[in-house]
Amino acid sequence: MTQALDIADLKKKARRRVPKMFFDYADSGSYTQGTYRANEADFQKIKLRQRVLVDMTNRSLETTMVGRAVSMPVALAPTGLTGMQHADGEILAAQAAEEAGVPFTLSTMSICSIEDVAAHTKTPFWFQLYVMKDRDFVGNLIDRAKAAGCSALVLTLDLQILGQRHNDIRNGLSTPPKFTPKHILQMATRPFWCLDMLKTQRRTFGNIVGHAKNVSDLSSLSTWTAEQFDPQLSWKDVAWIKERWGGKLILKGVLDVEDAKMAAETGADALIVSNHGGRQLDGAPSSISMLPKIVDAVGDRIEVHMDGGIRSGQDVLKALALGAKGTFIGRPFLYGLGAGGRDGVKLALDIIRKELDTTLALCGKRVIADATSEIIAESPF
Ligand SMILES: Cc1cc2nc3c(=O)[nH]c(=O)nc-3n(C[C@H](O)[C@H](O)[C@H](O)COP(=O)(O)O)c2cc1C
Repeated sequence: MTQALDIADLKKKARRRVPKMFFDYADSGSYTQGTYRANEADFQKIKLRQRVLVDMTNRSLETTMVGRAVSMPVALAPTGLTGMQHADGEILAAQAAEEAGVPFTLSTMSICSIEDVAAHTKTPFWFQLYVMKDRDFVGNLIDRAKAAGCSALVLTLDLQILGQRHNDIRNGLSTPPKFTPKHILQMATRPFWCLDMLKTQRRTFGNIVGHAKNVSDLSSLSTWTAEQFDPQLSWKDVAWIKERWGGKLILKGVLDVEDAKMAAETGADALIVSNHGGRQLDGAPSSISMLPKIVDAVGDRIEVHMDGGIRSGQDVLKALALGAKGTFIGRPFLYGLGAGGRDGVKLALDIIRKELDTTLALCGKRVIADATSEIIAESPF
């Protein structure tokens, strides 16, 4: 593990440890994957200003995200099926985030349940909500997140229907996963993953089975998830969700200035500029290219965060310089998890922290609040 120097190294290790269908599930965008690629590539177009002979002592990356103190402005993004990258994946990632002093966000579509993650951590985590047609189930989920002490609700707006990911279809990945001879063969070539998986009971959607009406086993779960994402979700729903939750609310999946204005109107605490990691609307612009426009339009009214394509501390710094108050990472922590469980996630965060700290210093700044547009040499956005 210690040999991994960057997130790309962790990705290579994860590819060797995680069965193909689950590795591909993480490393995929929708359709041509153009937006997925653009998320990463557009960061490379931004150039930083090299400054010299400034005092670099006493640096700090500490700040806040929706009022929560963080050791650096990098949260773990909600990701479904995380417990399939590594046994007990959500619990391990939440523990690593806790140790690193950054927020962990649990997906509705997680393997470990809200209660299970709460029982294995001390710091409140954030909960991501998908709004299903079964509003009783949704209300219940909100109440469960509250009861578990979650300190922010992340409401995802960009997945009312699913963008197609060719890899998942080719691999026969389904929700919940099926175990055909092809899949069993893939798993047999990943013995460490299998051994860990045999030791855990957490292998299905922990927030759903036993909680949604008529979902008690894998086949009823499959039918339920296929039918439940709500294509009629609207801005009006944000109001009742906000009221029922009553705490910090983050709206995730805003990529357009008009939508950002609507998001600011709702009174939510933050929005995340995001295209779901290039997994939904293929052909949409990269998140980083839209960030400055959205900050310009609503940055004085709502905290603006971003995700999509961050693979290094340099990327985090660029996002902050273009106006983000905080960032989220998806694949970087999933690769760490697949490569080495809790230690792998911790390493992913340590790598990003060190890159961020060094880059901040080389830009001639000592505190993260000074990472403003002043540190940008050139940006096409
Ligand atoms: C494997 C995977 C599963 C995801 N599942 C969810 C999810 O359940 N809910 C959600 O709001 N976003 C989900 N996302 C999107 C992430 O929260 C985040 O927006 C995205 O990963 C950021 O891009 P990055 O992976 O390039 O950092 C998922 C992303 C990945 C890669």
